[in-house]
Amino acid sequence: MAFKIILLLIVLHTLTHIIFAQDSIEFIYNGFKDSNFHLDGAATLHSNGLLQLTNYSKQLTAHAFHPIPLNFTSSSSHSFSTSFAFAMYPEIQAISGHGIVFVLSPTMNFPNGVAGKYFGLFNSSLDFLPSDNIFAVELDTIEDIDFYDIDSNHVGININSLISNASAPAGYFSDTENQNKSVSLISARPMQIWIDYNGTTMLVHVTMAPLNIPKPSRPLLSLQVNLSDIVSDTMYAGFASSTGSVASSHYLLGWSFAQGGREAQNLDISNLPRLPRYGNRSRKLSVGSMVLVIVISVVVFIIGVVFYIIRRKKYEEVVEDWEQEYHLQRFSFKDLYNATKGFKDKEFLGAGGFGKVYKGVLSSPKLEVAVKRVSHGSGQGMREFIAEIACMGRLRHRNLVQLLGYCRRKGELILVYDYMPNGSLDKYLYDSDKPNLSWNARFKVIRGVASALVYLHEEWEQVIIHRDVKASNILLDVDMNARLGDFGLARLYDHGTNPQTTHVVGTVGYLAPELTRKGKATTSTDVFSFGVFVLEVACGKSPISTFQGSSNGEMYLVDWVNECLKKGVLLEASDPKLGRDYDADEMELVLKLGLLCCHPKPEGRPNMRQVMQFLNGHSILPEMLPFDAKAANTTFSNQNLSSFPISSAGTSAYASYSSDSILKVGR
Ligand SMILES: *[C@@H]1O[C@H](CO)[C@@H](O)[C@H](O)[C@H]1NC(C)=O
Ligand SMILES: *[C@@H]1O[C@H](CO)[C@@H](O)[C@H](O)[C@H]1NC(C)=O
Ligand SMILES: *[C@@H]1O[C@H](CO)[C@@H](O)[C@H](O)[C@H]1NC(C)=O
Repeated sequence: MAFKIILLLIVLHTLTHIIFAQDSIEFIYNGFKDSNFHLDGAATLHSNGLLQLTNYSKQLTAHAFHPIPLNFTSSSSHSFSTSFAFAMYPEIQAISGHGIVFVLSPTMNFPNGVAGKYFGLFNSSLDFLPSDNIFAVELDTIEDIDFYDIDSNHVGININSLISNASAPAGYFSDTENQNKSVSLISARPMQIWIDYNGTTMLVHVTMAPLNIPKPSRPLLSLQVNLSDIVSDTMYAGFASSTGSVASSHYLLGWSFAQGGREAQNLDISNLPRLPRYGNRSRKLSVGSMVLVIVISVVVFIIGVVFYIIRRKKYEEVVEDWEQEYHLQRFSFKDLYNATKGFKDKEFLGAGGFGKVYKGVLSSPKLEVAVKRVSHGSGQGMREFIAEIACMGRLRHRNLVQLLGYCRRKGELILVYDYMPNGSLDKYLYDSDKPNLSWNARFKVIRGVASALVYLHEEWEQVIIHRDVKASNILLDVDMNARLGDFGLARLYDHGTNPQTTHVVGTVGYLAPELTRKGKATTSTDVFSFGVFVLEVACGKSPISTFQGSSNGEMYLVDWVNECLKKGVLLEASDPKLGRDYDADEMELVLKLGLLCCHPKPEGRPNMRQVMQFLNGHSILPEMLPFDAKAANTTFSNQNLSSFPISSAGTSAYASYSSDSILKVGR
């Protein structure tokens, strides 16, 4: 029975302990593990006992109160002593949120408490009004002129207001050094505050020191105040904290409190919870970012080297000392690459016999050019090759496409020419989307090409055989002047090849019979090609075509024109697209001249100067004899024409020109 009564008494004692404010309370928390604090806002309790009030988020409020109310009824109980350990971590060095406030308050709930400078305790409407029954000690890290703060690192004693009744810059009296020392509240170092109120002397002393330093003998600041005027009968003790537009993490490590004249027990410094390492986050980041920086640098370096190599490779050229001897303008591959936008398909003009041609625009001087990429085997014969090109570069004639310069790469030669905006002649003859060329324009073109060939064959210091005269090699400049292109290139192809092997260069349909037999190009073979070209321009038909009324399918243009001559209807060979819109004398001259140039025997052909004289009317074309079809048994059928797409080449009769037609025309 007695046991039951004792048990009941113990239970009752415990209950009263909890329910009613005690006469005098004393507690100590070295870390807040197992504490039963009233927390709100951002306040969180870490598992190691560290009480975190705020974090690095902005505009936070936090409250942490000892849950048991203090009894402030008897004046002796008004004396109290407390100490706590805290740390404030600024997010940005030396700038922080608003700080921590120790509070004695009649309530633990502050629904109208605003973050920032109001510490989560007050709001703007209570700025200057005494709010009832609040005693506070602020650790304020922001200077607010509204509240007459002395600086941004001070400790203040506040009664019912945010305006401090007394304040002092944070610091402590060092007993060992016998001098005052200042500290930074937001240094992220743990510090301790002692607050002692003596109900008899009515003095509040606030003392502070770094955590590893014992309580200094001199307080930081003191204030005389009759606490009995302020407090209500029951008060709660606790902390408020806030962040504003800048944030900081605020921590409490331990708290000791004693009421009724006893001094608060000393915190057991060694048993306080560990603080997170300051700068942990940023240090981790900086280690991470250092690794990242190193990795990125290495990657960037490697990419740089690779790009450099690729670039070197991309723009790589072959330059040899002897090239300078030839005084031919050399272009850098990079410039040509950029001029043609990287040899884009969009800039592709066409594929000639020797390579692809691209349009390009050089940047300085600003110039439209045609860039031809000619692949070339080994370095063998390269010197002759360049010499040849240098020679081509020195050729100047109004009916030649001007070679501007070159560039050499491994296995490749790049030639730069004047750009011909109107493209090649064959497009005008055969493409329906191009305007029809008038007879005058055609005649001008024929004379232009003849003039260019005279220049190449006779007027230049050495004889240059073109080898590939044909409509698609004739380009038209802005004024529709004919410009012969691709000259000299054919000869380049012979270099480095065995002279014994016959290496016929040219285009099927334009090849003189003896060229296919002997493989030797001469000015006469050029004249033959020119003849075919002339007929092509006059008739608007390609050298091997299907002709109306021809039973044999495909035929040589030359043979067909011959047939028209034989039938006495030569002018019917003229291009139907011209209608009757031509000068009949000129047309007849051109058709006959074309046939004459295509004489199967080289001796039967005029030279280019004679051709020019006929065209200019300075010489009269000899009478053309009608040929004998029955005698037509030679010519192309004797050539190796296995690759020619003609079914009945054997009937070609044009070769049966009477030998009488061999010219005897002087210069
Ligand atoms: C800080 O605390 C608030 C409230 O507890 C939370 O919403 C926020 O995510 C926290 N911020 C950080 C950076 O931890
Ligand atoms: C400020 O707080 C008081 C009471 O604490 C409340 O009556 C008032 O409405 C609040 N004012 C604002 C602006 O929140
Ligand atoms: C302190 O304030 C209380 C209550 O207002 C009053 O009773 C007491 O006399 C005051 N003490 C002194 C010394 O003024």
